[in-house]
Amino acid sequence: MEIKSKLKKNKKLRQRGRKVNFGIRDELVKLLNVSSYRRDHLIEYLHVIQDNKGHINEDFMTALAHLLEISQTEVYEVATFYHHFDIIKSDQTAPPSLTVRVCDSVSCEINGANELAQNLNDYFKGTVRIQKVPCIGRCQNAPVAVVKFNPIDNANLKNVKQAVDAKKYMPTIPDYIDMNEYIKKDGYELFEKVKNSEADKDRVLLELENSNLRGLGGAGFPAGKKWRILKEQKAPRLLAVNIDEGEPGTFKDRFYLESDPHRFFEGMLVACEVVGIDKVYIYLRDEYAAVRDIMTDELKKIRDKYKRSIPQIELRRGAGAYICGEESAMIESIEGKKGMPRLRPPFVAQVGLFGRPTLEHNMETLYWVRDIAEKGASWFTSYGRNGRKGLRSFSVSGRVNNPGVHLAPAGITVKELIDEYAGGMIKGHEFYAYFPGGASGGILPASMSNIPLDFDTLNEYDCFIGSAAIIILSDQDTVLKAASTTMSFFEHESCGKCTPCRVGTSKATKLMGQKKWDVKLLNDLATVMSDASICGLGQAASNPLKSVIKYFPEEIKK
Ligand SMILES: Cc1cc2nc3c(=O)[nH]c(=O)nc-3n(C[C@H](O)[C@H](O)[C@H](O)COP(=O)(O)O)c2cc1C
Ligand code: SF4
Ligand code: FES
Repeated sequence: MEIKSKLKKNKKLRQRGRKVNFGIRDELVKLLNVSSYRRDHLIEYLHVIQDNKGHINEDFMTALAHLLEISQTEVYEVATFYHHFDIIKSDQTAPPSLTVRVCDSVSCEINGANELAQNLNDYFKGTVRIQKVPCIGRCQNAPVAVVKFNPIDNANLKNVKQAVDAKKYMPTIPDYIDMNEYIKKDGYELFEKVKNSEADKDRVLLELENSNLRGLGGAGFPAGKKWRILKEQKAPRLLAVNIDEGEPGTFKDRFYLESDPHRFFEGMLVACEVVGIDKVYIYLRDEYAAVRDIMTDELKKIRDKYKRSIPQIELRRGAGAYICGEESAMIESIEGKKGMPRLRPPFVAQVGLFGRPTLEHNMETLYWVRDIAEKGASWFTSYGRNGRKGLRSFSVSGRVNNPGVHLAPAGITVKELIDEYAGGMIKGHEFYAYFPGGASGGILPASMSNIPLDFDTLNEYDCFIGSAAIIILSDQDTVLKAASTTMSFFEHESCGKCTPCRVGTSKATKLMGQKKWDVKLLNDLATVMSDASICGLGQAASNPLKSVIKYFPEEIKK
């Protein structure tokens, strides 16, 4: 009672947060240029500020909170969660207007990323901000740098300097099959047939089930089964497409979207018809600026062609947080929140985006729908090796002659993959070890190069295939260094929601950096992290560490 009357008397005590600067608010209104403000677009709005100003001043956050009618804390918490937003206080100096990002994940690191970052720092001397960042999905061209939005493959001081001097900040758009070309090759025939009931929806679903196409984002859940579960949920249902592609070593989604994007769009629209989807959200990682341009252009053509006969499609932009690839974290992010995984149950298929049943798919899973529906399940299952069935898009990087996306039979061994698809090892390098599933999937020695690479086949070795990112190490690399690099990646990307992951990744990074490893303590830590973390990040973060202890004991300094 006493406090209430004090508040009533003293207006100052009632004020919450900073005062709105109305000049800034008016500037923001112009920048955003929208007719109404949407809470779930908070991250999109923050991008607009960051893109235009090169950073986000707290006055803009205050103005944004005012426009959205939410608390300043909410805006601040979201803005600071994502690595691509540079938050500065009003009295702080803004960072240099240009940032060059240098990837320092394993494939780039073994190809000289740290030396490159050092050279760039020495050359630019603070006039350009040089920032080390995790994998940007171009590992076949390592080392890679990004000048604002322009990726520089096989980066060195010379080509980065050239791009900076020429102010070439935007990406070059690669040649790809556009809508016209795609239609010429019978594109969208399947979708139109399904839509007009000339093709049976149940038949499409049956083919998908019989093909045993499994989710290609990493978890491998059977796609047909997921569609059937969704069909049984109450409408309206939503589709969320996951193109976060943050797993270090993975670049297959970018490869397909930069070459044949409509094959994915058609799969997406077929899924909408078969499952009964009311609205689609596509979540694209921020690093894929060329894909963003391609998708924006091609989605416009799709909307112009099909008008209101297809569901509304929203393209959303990630903001540099690996955890947003985790399905429930992605949903939080699409809702404009911090990308923190949800506790399950309920599963996203039941209660997902905006509380609606949500079909969530990796982009590549949908990419195969057209071929499977048109050619039949038996076409897909006719591929396969060593007792496995289907096709896999392997992102191969590291010490091989021909790194890149290689479409190969499921179950192929790493040895076969290197010899038949990746052009063998680089001269002077002897095959030593490999990551069979990106940073999370563990590390195996070359002596175990005859294991079929597929879902489930690696479990007994404490490894998994995940998104099929294969990183090849040679006798010139050490697994200990590679594992330490991945652990610091997980420390950097842990969302901090649960203690085993937040504290575990940080403690493990420190312990792995010590000259003499405390193997017992590291083993205990690894067990707690895998057993008690809430989501896949924390559960898998210790896989490379466990691999070093199990398969490379000679590297651990005694
Ligand atoms: C830490 C973490 C990161 C993930 N990142 C991605 C990603 O970048 N892209 C993706 O498609 N799936 C990712 N996944 C898997 C998704 O949670 C989910 O299983 C997938 O999007 C479902 O689609 P699918 O069934 O078509 O594979 C990630 C999972 C975890 C635990
Ligand atoms: S395991 Fe890590 S990333 Fe996942 S919820 Fe816990 S802290 Fe966040
Ligand atoms: S782009 Fe550098 S490791 Fe992937």
